[in-house]
Amino acid sequence: MRAVCNMCRLCPQGAWQRLAAASQTAHIRSQRHARWPCAESRGYVTTVAATGTAPSSSVDTGGPSSASTDTDVSSGPSEQQPPEQQQQTKHMHMSEPLYAYLLQHTREPAVLAALRADTAAQFPAAARMAISPEQGAFLAWLLRTLQARRVIEVGVFTGYSSIALALALPPTGTLLACDRDPRSMALARDYWAKAGVADKVLERLGPAAATLDELLADPAQHGSYDFAFIDADKKGYRAYYEQLLQLVRPGGVIAIDNTLWYGRVADVENTDGATLALRELNAFLVADERIMFSLVPVGDGMCMCTKL
Ligand SMILES: C[S@@+](CC[C@H](N)C(=O)[O-])C[C@H]1O[C@@H](n2cnc3c(N)ncnc32)[C@H](O)[C@@H]1O
Repeated sequence: MRAVCNMCRLCPQGAWQRLAAASQTAHIRSQRHARWPCAESRGYVTTVAATGTAPSSSVDTGGPSSASTDTDVSSGPSEQQPPEQQQQTKHMHMSEPLYAYLLQHTREPAVLAALRADTAAQFPAAARMAISPEQGAFLAWLLRTLQARRVIEVGVFTGYSSIALALALPPTGTLLACDRDPRSMALARDYWAKAGVADKVLERLGPAAATLDELLADPAQHGSYDFAFIDADKKGYRAYYEQLLQLVRPGGVIAIDNTLWYGRVADVENTDGATLALRELNAFLVADERIMFSLVPVGDGMCMCTKL
């Protein structure tokens, strides 16, 4: 294992690539990143499996990497695990039985289960665009924890995420729901009524960038939202993020869906437009000092951005 400074990986001087085969300690101590915060001072350090010729013991971050050599195995992976589950980093591949277990321990309101079924029947080719039940539960939990009242959603489809969000709002809360597709929006409208949240939802049909620009034209809207969720055209994400960063309050959160993109972001061979856009967005966000940032592996990845 060795530690890699995320900021240095993004360094426009390309120092990380040049130093990849050298000692990681030398890399971290490198003075080549005058404009980039150093790993040790900012804590932007993550552990990755060692590759190339770097000495595996060059840096001990005391993070997840130390679990494999820990003599107390009661709280971490044990040597009795099958080889395919033994890993250096503390992350997991979700097997079908484990995902079934996760769903068994997820609260999904009946109206959302019914919407999933209706969406699969009416939009069979696109049904997987809706967020997953555990993702809906996670967002609902977050909204309630934030005590959010004013929310914007970019990308409604048939309404799954909008209902998960709206149900977590207080009776006076509002969700501004933006989408350009009237057909899927019609099903969403039916389900807002069935879920009892129609009074909270303000529908905006049309291109989301134009809708957000209209909001930005009103100074009273600036900094007035507690939470925003982006789940639409991937190439538009960066522009939506910049618009929403002006619309959410300090301490407000922007959640951005699909940012691990079924693993495509990590596949260097993949250069399709959406993948490139998401890869660039992730690289931008991890270094954006206007926010607190965490990329969470729920669904197919969600960037969580808190406005500072
Ligand atoms: C992934 S789906 C949203 C899924 C939804 N959040 C859910 O959980 O069910 C993406 C949606 O974004 C909408 N969309 C794509 N590009 C858009 C744009 N430029 N403006 C507004 N909506 C857009 C599509 O019509 C589609 O309904």
